Amino acid sequence: MINYCISPSGKLSGRIHVPGDKSISHRALMLSAIAEGQSRITGFLDGEDTMATMAVFRAMGVEIQHSSENEVVVDGVGMEGLTTPITALNLGNSGTSVRLLSGLLSGLGIECELVGDDSLMSRPMRRIVDPLQKMHASITCSKDGTLPIYIKGGASLTAIDFEMPVASAQLKSSLLLAALSANGRTCIHEPVTTRDHTERMLKQFDYQIECEGSTIALTGGGVLKGTSIEVPADISSAAFFIVGACIANEADIIIENVGVNPNRDAVIHILREMGADITLLKEKVVSGEPVADIRVKSSELHGIEISESLVPSAIDEFPAIMVAAACAIGKTRLTGAGELRVKESDRITAIVNGLQTLGIDVDEQPDGMTVTGGLISGGEINSFTDHRIAMAFAIAGLIASDPITIKDCSNVETSFPGFVDVAKTAGLDLVVEEQVYNV
Ligand code: S3P
Repeated sequence: MINYCISPSGKLSGRIHVPGDKSISHRALMLSAIAEGQSRITGFLDGEDTMATMAVFRAMGVEIQHSSENEVVVDGVGMEGLTTPITALNLGNSGTSVRLLSGLLSGLGIECELVGDDSLMSRPMRRIVDPLQKMHASITCSKDGTLPIYIKGGASLTAIDFEMPVASAQLKSSLLLAALSANGRTCIHEPVTTRDHTERMLKQFDYQIECEGSTIALTGGGVLKGTSIEVPADISSAAFFIVGACIANEADIIIENVGVNPNRDAVIHILREMGADITLLKEKVVSGEPVADIRVKSSELHGIEISESLVPSAIDEFPAIMVAAACAIGKTRLTGAGELRVKESDRITAIVNGLQTLGIDVDEQPDGMTVTGGLISGGEINSFTDHRIAMAFAIAGLIASDPITIKDCSNVETSFPGFVDVAKTAGLDLVVEEQVYNV
């Protein structure tokens, strides 16, 4: 087991690079694999989650070259070219892989079983299985609505008109990927707009898709054309350093080339409302996605009521945002965030548990929490094997009164390989401790 031990250093500075966006990297691989011709992906996230996606495409006969500089070249096999894998496809900790692949593979004529690690095996899958069955996919999950998922080849999919019951980009993307091989025009209505990387990327692969307000429509049977995709740095990884710079006593950092898609950037809006000094520099559009350098300086934060409308576009950033709330003056209230309970861990419980361990007054609610800012003490934090919980509490260590130890941080590799080096270079006093168990 790997633990992080952080001693308070109070400073964060310099120009920081964080790895490529996880959501965009998964989608770039998936669309490249089913496109006609070769695609080149640069800035690819070499994390365990995206490597799980890569491994399953290799297992289905796709040639993928992966150089050490976050560059991937994929020889697309077209919509009909994937082959049936000989063993179950193991997606590890990655919910995005399993949900998007379920949609994509449902209409492609191959047979497979999808499994994952303990966390992924317990996450809800009916949200995708039910609408895919409505499209006549031959797909099943366990009676508890979890993995394993079985897909039987040969189903011919029918387009649907679907009102999404939850705000989930994974559900939306799963259905859009299934719609590529369905007969007719699929129409999806979102309750609140979620990240639109699939929609933007389909356009990069020259596939027609209509997006109007909260409705997205596409007609199946077309062809994706191989292309080049430049993946920006992940705002969800940048969020730890954005919060770190806000709460550190002496901080001035620039995080370079970060994706600032308007459906992902609510962490910036929420922190600015709390008083954060955040500036976007060198704004541009790369491979259809808005990108900028993000400059953050030490800030005096105050508590706010977080607008429920911002929750879907900051869904992965709440572990970090709640650490900011713990350092703010007054109360911060998060509501309408029940989805946090079905992430890699129950993040409401994990955040509340961690903040309370550090002496912060937190009131847990079914769909959120109220955090009263205060002084962060030292202590031992349970990461619940969740990468974002581990990194958020590592950042809290910057300004704690005493050292913080975070247990079981190995899953940081799923989304942020190199976190320890980036954190140390920026100013965190972080030591990795390997704990060996004798069985
Ligand atoms: C993701 C969507 C979100 C997010 C996850 C990545 C995606 O999940 O939490 O980390 O890439 O589509 P939901 O769709 O469950 O909200």
